[in-house]
This record gives sequence, structure tokens and C-alpha cells, in this order.
Amino acid sequence: MSAQATTVNSSPPSAKKTRKRILTGDRPTGPLHVGNYVGTLANRVKLQDSYDTFLLVADHHMLTTRLDHLSEIEQNIRDDVIDNLAVGVDPEKVTYLLQSLVPQIPELHLYFSMLVSVPRVQRIPTLKEQLRDHGLAQPTYGLLGYPVLQAADILIVKGDLVPVGRDQESHVELTREIARRFNELFAPIFPLPESLIPDMGLLPGIDGRDKMGKSLDNAIFFSDDAKTVERKVMGMYTDPNRVRATDRGRVEGNPVFVYHDTFNTDKAEVEDLKRRYREGQVGDVEVKRRLITALETFLAPIRERREEIAAKPAIVDEILAAGSERARREADTTIHEVREAMHLDYFGR
Ligand code: TRP
Repeated sequence: MSAQATTVNSSPPSAKKTRKRILTGDRPTGPLHVGNYVGTLANRVKLQDSYDTFLLVADHHMLTTRLDHLSEIEQNIRDDVIDNLAVGVDPEKVTYLLQSLVPQIPELHLYFSMLVSVPRVQRIPTLKEQLRDHGLAQPTYGLLGYPVLQAADILIVKGDLVPVGRDQESHVELTREIARRFNELFAPIFPLPESLIPDMGLLPGIDGRDKMGKSLDNAIFFSDDAKTVERKVMGMYTDPNRVRATDRGRVEGNPVFVYHDTFNTDKAEVEDLKRRYREGQVGDVEVKRRLITALETFLAPIRERREEIAAKPAIVDEILAAGSERARREADTTIHEVREAMHLDYFGR
């Protein structure tokens, strides 16, 4: 992962701007899975000690595509927070904020929307994906503004670094353009944020597709119980050309071994399994059994914390309320600077 993660700064989180600031975000789409862990959560846990970190739950972003699923959104917000807490994103170190509890964000989004041309946002690659995934011929005005809203999320707290998956890089690039344009046009208020992309590859799905996704029906969730994990691993896709345990197998790109490499801390065991697999001296069942054991070592404590938190749902409310309150204070400072720079600080605003 990024070398920047090793820059340790011991100043307390309240010390203003002595440490670089991170803002990252999740769209609350429901429970998180081990693919999310590899993609973003592990990085978050690692970075939280070195940076003043804000974790935004982007409920307004869900309005851009999920108008028919809004009855689920509250539970999805809860699941997202619970899973972040369970994997170790520590609310003592990280400010959890709910986007809709910080009204300065939509205000900044409105101002930013005047600084971006329509063709510019039409060119953002994630837009085409969203249209395809949701079977839409044309974006709504709101969906077109998705990355502009994201720029407001990042810049309202003057985020310097944005840890995200590679697919989000174009949004951070647009954020820099908007910041640059604002700074030139009005006053140099904003940093030019950089994305932090983990160099670990994507975790494949249990079906062998190169990406694990909630909607792809190929994920292992933190909310899965041990029996479910066992069933999913036993059904995992391996080397399709290997029929018998005595056939020589392929380790490279074989999801079962990708998972071993990622989650099995016993490296000697992994090397031994790989060697025997290549030589046709181990069956899929043994490889999978050992993966189940390794995954359980990783998942059991997460599952336990998850259940503890889920049993006291008020914890989630408190964390979001306290974090959003802190974020509002920061956001209020920024929005006052913005209004002043834009000559919009009239009538006592
Ligand atoms: N667009 C991000 C995603 O789909 C979620 C997100 C919303 C975000 N606001 C953000 C990520 C701000 C980083 C910073 O994953």
C-alpha cells in the first residue's frame, strides 16, 4: 500500500491542520464484504493513525440512482457504519459524518456546479457505467452532478488526500479542477487533493469474476455466519481445467490462492499448498478447508464486534451525531470563507 501511510505524526486530532487531512467516503449500499476490506477498509485502518481522517457516509449520493430503494437507506447507513467500526475504523481517530447532516455540503455543491461545464461531467467514465448498470438512456441532472457533489464532500473539510479505488480517480481529478478554478476566480482557499489508490489488486469474487461486488452475488460479507462462509468457500471457483486432485493445477489467478495470499497469515502453509497444487498432490477440498480456517481467523473477531455493535444500535447514532457535529464546525468555517470570497456574505450570512 501507499508509502505515505507510514508518515506518522503524533499530534492530537484536534490540532488544526498540523497533519494532512483525509476525506474518504462510502455510498451506503448495504453490508460490506471482504472485497471492500482489500479495496479500501484495510487502507483506512492503516491511515487513521497518521492523518486527520474524515469518513463520509454519502447518503445524498444514493439519491442519484436509487430512488426506488430509499426505504432501505437508513439500514444501509447503519450497516456501513457498523462494518467500518467492526473492521477497526476507530471513531476515536476518525470523524464519521453523515453527508445529509452537514448542510454546508449541498450549498458548496451548488456553487461548484457553476464552475463545471456539462460536457466536462458528461465525459467522466463512471457516468457511462452508472447509466449501463441502471439501464438508463439519459442521466438526470442530479446524476450528472454526482462527482461535483463529491468535490464538495472533499473540499468542505479541505481534504488533502482521498483514499479511494481506482474507479474514483476521475472524480478526484475533477475535484482538483474545481478547486483550482475556485482559487483562481475567487480566493486561494482550497487544497488540490490527491487520490491515494491502494496498490493491492481487486479481490476476485467467489465465482472467479475479477471483482467482488454486492450486486454481483459473489461476495463474502462480514455479516455472513461461519456456516455461510464455509458453504461459499466450498463452492468457490478454482482451476476449471483440473478434474482430479492428481491433475497439475494452476495457482496464478486462481481465486482460492488469491484469497490464501490475502487472508492466510501462515505463509509457509500457503507455499506448501501452492507447491502441492502445482504438482497434483493436494485436492481442492483440502485447499478450501485450510482457507476456511484462515478466513475464520480473520472474520470471527470482526463478526463478534459487529454483533456487539448491532445489539446497541444507539452507538451508531451517537458516532454519526458527534462526527457530523465536528464536521459541521469545520464546514462552517469553510463555507464562510467561500461566501466571503464570492461576495455572498451579505445580509449577515
Ligand atoms: N463516490 C464514492 C464511491 O462510489 C463515494 C464517495 C462519496 C466518496 N463522496 C466521497 C469517496 C468523497 C471519496 C470522497 O465509492
